[in-house]
Amino acid sequence: MPVINKCLFPVAGYGTRFLPATKAIPKEMLPILTKPLIQYGVEEAMSAGINTMAMVTSKHKQAIKAHFQPHPEIEASIQDTPKAPLLDEVNHIIQQCNFTYIEQQQMQGLGHAIYTGKALIGHEPFAVILPDDLCTNDDDSVLLQMTKLHAQHPDCCIVAIEAVPMHAVDKYGVIDGELLPDSKNAYRVHNMVEKPTPAEAPTNLSIVGRYILTHEIFAVLETTQPDKNGEIQITDALLTLAKQGKVIAYQFQGTRFDCGSVKGFVEANTFFASKFFSS
Ligand code: G1P
Repeated sequence: MPVINKCLFPVAGYGTRFLPATKAIPKEMLPILTKPLIQYGVEEAMSAGINTMAMVTSKHKQAIKAHFQPHPEIEASIQDTPKAPLLDEVNHIIQQCNFTYIEQQQMQGLGHAIYTGKALIGHEPFAVILPDDLCTNDDDSVLLQMTKLHAQHPDCCIVAIEAVPMHAVDKYGVIDGELLPDSKNAYRVHNMVEKPTPAEAPTNLSIVGRYILTHEIFAVLETTQPDKNGEIQITDALLTLAKQGKVIAYQFQGTRFDCGSVKGFVEANTFFASKFFSS
């Protein structure tokens, strides 16, 4: 069974929708309650058995690196106080995981960001988490569900999908496909379109920020043409593989919050707050 060892986090973007909060603080460091978004993503990757976190980052994002390093002064100051456990979760991550970093020099789309991470990956399948999409599930995490599916289809890339209202499809990559035999939630993808208008969209099945990609994607990205905005889209690269029958879209179990929008970010905080204060 192919094991996924590495997860790529494309986290170089400016997060301009959250200005002024994101002027000096990476958007991935914005907290849901007291835990930054990026830590939720890393914990989800760990839940899928992954222990190498490959960050495609920028020089403005040093706080992400600092978050995943020990901080002896703070630890000394809370030692033997009731606050001591507050760093336990992140310290556990630091002990269990390797973090690797590469700087993305130019912002040229998600496909370009993923290609930038090639040097961190090696010749193996890998996961991608966009931490803006915060996924939660009481049972298996979304990425664990996807790694289980990938184990059955090792030659395929897997994308997570969710049915969204038709008026919202223009924020997403949208897929078309047919259910795999005996499946209620996994589609063999025939077509994929990046941010279509509702009239252009083949379905309302929209990609959310979880992918498992085979190493083949890097060769495809090398020849993928930029879109009309000059960006290289992972959706366009995946379409090349979909035409060869090598992409599966998986309608996951769980809840996803679009923390790239202020509304979704507030909803995620409300959701986790109600869980926290009722426990
Ligand atoms: C990216 C992808 C898009 C996908 C989305 C999920 O878009 O290009 O296909 O549906 O992530 O969050 P972005 O949100 O970065 O514009």
